[in-house]
Amino acid sequence: MEALFPRIGSEKEPRVYDGLPLLRDDVAGPRSSSRKAHRGPIFAIMILAPLATVVVLLGWSTKSGILAGSSTPPVSDDCDPAASGFQCQPEFSHYWGQYSPYFTVPSDISTDIPSGCEVTFVQILSRHGARDPTASKTKTYNDTIKQVQAKVKSFTGPYAFIANYSYTLGADQLTTFGQEEMVNSGTKFYNRYRSLAKSLEPFVRSSSENRVVESALNWTQGFHAARQADKSAAVDSGFPYPVILQYEGDGFNNTLNHAICAEFENGTDSEIADDAQDAWAKIFVPPIQARLNAGLPGANLSIDQTINMMDLCPFNTVANDDGTISPFCSLFTESEWHSYAYYQTLGKYYGFSYGNPLGPTQGVGFVNELIARLTNTSVQDHTSTNHTLDENPATFPLGRKLYADFSHDNDMTTVFSAMGLYSDTLLLPNTTIVEARAAAGYSAAWTVPFAARAYIEKMQCRGHSEELIRVIVNDRVQPLSSCGGDDLGRCTLGKFLGSLGFAKMGGFWDQCFG
Ligand SMILES: *[C@@H]1O[C@H](CO)[C@@H](O)[C@H](O)[C@H]1NC(C)=O
Ligand SMILES: *[C@@H]1O[C@H](CO)[C@@H](O)[C@H](O)[C@H]1NC(C)=O
Ligand SMILES: *[C@@H]1O[C@H](CO)[C@@H](O)[C@H](O)[C@H]1NC(C)=O
Ligand SMILES: *[C@@H]1O[C@H](CO)[C@@H](O)[C@H](O)[C@H]1NC(C)=O
Ligand SMILES: *[C@@H]1O[C@H](CO)[C@@H](O)[C@H](O)[C@H]1NC(C)=O
Ligand SMILES: *[C@@H]1O[C@H](CO)[C@@H](O)[C@H](O)[C@H]1NC(C)=O
Ligand SMILES: *[C@@H]1O[C@H](CO)[C@@H](O)[C@H](O)[C@H]1NC(C)=O
Ligand SMILES: *[C@@H]1O[C@H](CO)[C@@H](O)[C@H](O)[C@H]1NC(C)=O
Ligand SMILES: *[C@@H]1O[C@H](CO)[C@@H](O)[C@H](O)[C@H]1NC(C)=O
Repeated sequence: MEALFPRIGSEKEPRVYDGLPLLRDDVAGPRSSSRKAHRGPIFAIMILAPLATVVVLLGWSTKSGILAGSSTPPVSDDCDPAASGFQCQPEFSHYWGQYSPYFTVPSDISTDIPSGCEVTFVQILSRHGARDPTASKTKTYNDTIKQVQAKVKSFTGPYAFIANYSYTLGADQLTTFGQEEMVNSGTKFYNRYRSLAKSLEPFVRSSSENRVVESALNWTQGFHAARQADKSAAVDSGFPYPVILQYEGDGFNNTLNHAICAEFENGTDSEIADDAQDAWAKIFVPPIQARLNAGLPGANLSIDQTINMMDLCPFNTVANDDGTISPFCSLFTESEWHSYAYYQTLGKYYGFSYGNPLGPTQGVGFVNELIARLTNTSVQDHTSTNHTLDENPATFPLGRKLYADFSHDNDMTTVFSAMGLYSDTLLLPNTTIVEARAAAGYSAAWTVPFAARAYIEKMQCRGHSEELIRVIVNDRVQPLSSCGGDDLGRCTLGKFLGSLGFAKMGGFWDQCFG
């Protein structure tokens, strides 16, 4: 059994309610239906009191000054500022699909809190930070590199670095760079919502996989440190905040990780995305494949292996503590990265969004929880919510103002779709359209990069008797056309709730089971 957080000294194991540390989940891939369930007793609440205190203090002394409140950025690269995310070589790095590190997406509407408005409630839904490849992918990448190094006699030109490259990426875990993304996200959240955050604690939940829980903790560390550095804030006596876990695995109801809808997990719907991606790969990969095989004589890379070589760019980049761009990146052109971004977008769209008949349905449970939180009424849902958790005020309290949930890219995609976000953009199979779609706001890199974050804000505004809602995804204000959003992207609470009929009716959950 592995320790919950391998980066921490083993004697500092967190205390959990039933005394069991988390097992590391071996997740095979984005649409894996083979997650290994931990079948032992389940626990819902982790209290991390002594541990997290130690961790935060360590963070203060070993990292650069951000946690201590100085202006030194946490990552040495100037192109990775905490506030606007990853801006190193954006002509490449903003086209890595879900493997892009978080960056501020351009917004047609100002993200500032509108004047005359006071935020009264915020829900953040966040992806974990940058990670190593999943276990199955890391093996595939290792094998691809092995094949290249075994078969190619000499590495020249742009390929010279491969001669001495050694594959050392791990599997599934957050990287140091990914941890820092999450600390930065917590700090950014504190600063944006300071009026609430200086005196209130966030209520935190996480899906149970290691990297997600660790992301949640790093986020709380960034939030806490920003509050500590804020002279006018109330003492943060509630830190470390409890983190409520929703367990991942077959048979577990979990609104932050899909698993129980049989037709979606194992039926024909589960193949749609692969088919769409394969079709596009056959179009965009062959010229790249031909160039690589010519430059690496003997390598004989297949279409899939050519994509592996592209994947090695983002994964080696986020494996560098400071996010230094990997030499794999410059083996490909800008327009090839655009094609790659589209390839990844296809996977999300046809796997988890409107391109999949049951994609949006997987996000319904979370949206029904959001409705409960926005309206201070109990959760009404018959899909993926766990009633044991949601009917208990200790694990699903109402009436709070700051909620923070930590999840995965796929699940966030289903939630966005269950809310009707991006529904007025069409996906058409080619790269030209990708640019058009990017302008309209939908791509995997714009929606679910590493450390992606959506804010659902409720605000009270002068001149408006009813509270208003805004939704901001990676700093891009959503137009909320589904509920008649105004020119600042705001809908009245009533109209916003009215637009969530799909979730209220349970989506197409009845189609999950034969
Ligand atoms: C690879 O390593 C060898 C031996 O250390 C060295 O001579 C060579 O210059 C290196 N090649 C590159 C491209 O760095
Ligand atoms: C790559 O595969 C080799 C076995 O062929 C193994 O020894 C090595 O540990 C693997 N490397 C990583 C980082 O998984
Ligand atoms: C993230 O959290 C882990 C576990 O709590 C801790 O070991 C690590 O130092 C944190 N990372 C940063 C950058 O603070
Ligand atoms: C619901 O959550 C409780 C507490 O974590 C857990 O014991 C139970 O197994 C969960 N049930 C399902 C169906 O997920
Ligand atoms: C999907 O199939 C796997 C493998 O047969 C099985 O373990 C899992 O329980 C199935 N999931 C659902 C939701 O039916
Ligand atoms: C190249 O790889 C393919 C499989 O992808 C294989 O069928 C073929 O024999 C290989 N060619 C050489 C020359 O190794
Ligand atoms: C889990 O979800 C199923 C399907 O919606 C539901 O029938 C069951 O009551 C749920 N279990 C819990 C503990 O909420
Ligand atoms: C939520 O509703 C409960 C009663 O159902 C009430 O006591 C509480 O004050 C309400 N909280 C808010 C923030 O409206
Ligand atoms: C993209 O789609 C347009 C319109 O359907 C078509 O004319 C064009 O040839 C396509 N381009 C590629 C690269 O497939």
